[in-house]
Amino acid sequence: MIKVHPQANHFGLDTSEHIPPPMPDLFETQPLLGEIWGRARSLLAVRDNDMHTLYSLSLASALLDEHPQADPGVVLPAIMLHDIGWSEVEPGQVLAAIAPGGGRTDLVLQHEKAGARLATEILESLRVDPLITKQVAAIVDGHDSRSEAIGPEDEIVKDADKLWLLTPHGLDTVMDWFGLHRGQALRLCASRVLDKLFTPQATTMAHGLLAFEQANLWPRSRELHQ
Ligand SMILES: [Fe+2]
Ligand SMILES: [Fe+2]
Repeated sequence: MIKVHPQANHFGLDTSEHIPPPMPDLFETQPLLGEIWGRARSLLAVRDNDMHTLYSLSLASALLDEHPQADPGVVLPAIMLHDIGWSEVEPGQVLAAIAPGGGRTDLVLQHEKAGARLATEILESLRVDPLITKQVAAIVDGHDSRSEAIGPEDEIVKDADKLWLLTPHGLDTVMDWFGLHRGQALRLCASRVLDKLFTPQATTMAHGLLAFEQANLWPRSRELHQ
């Protein structure tokens, strides 16, 4: 559970008038995202794919700030819709598809193909420009199986998707998927992320996330929580 409200005010005084104003809300600056989320959410309610999608969306938005040549109108719908195809894979088989030690490639391809078709249906229903819809479908179809990127938008989608694995939520999720300790999950995720990223900014972010988790695993950190 994420801490949103304070549990105490040790200082005792109200400092809120010195706090900077809120940062722009992605869903307010890009209203289409809310419409897409409304149609995608139920298709993402498998194995924490819904929260994975929101974290990856936010990471993609951060990467877009560094890549003005990439079109947010393609990247943001593509990252939002990239995993909706898991909704058509037998729920009991989703983890077999991505398990360590050689997953089921056929199921990975199935979720990519289904995702591209469902993404097209959703974007057509929202009357999105057919050219954008075509680019989004091309990115979704192959987002896991294709090792090269088909353009700058695809690079950002691929990087944001993978970076999630190294976030606290990504590690919590992978630990429970495969019954791994946090250190094992970190090593597995690092092997699936580092050296597979396209943008230098994502590589820097990955090293930052990794550094944070390595500190969590130090015995000296764990002693503080006993
Ligand atoms: Fe995927
Ligand atoms: Fe994903």
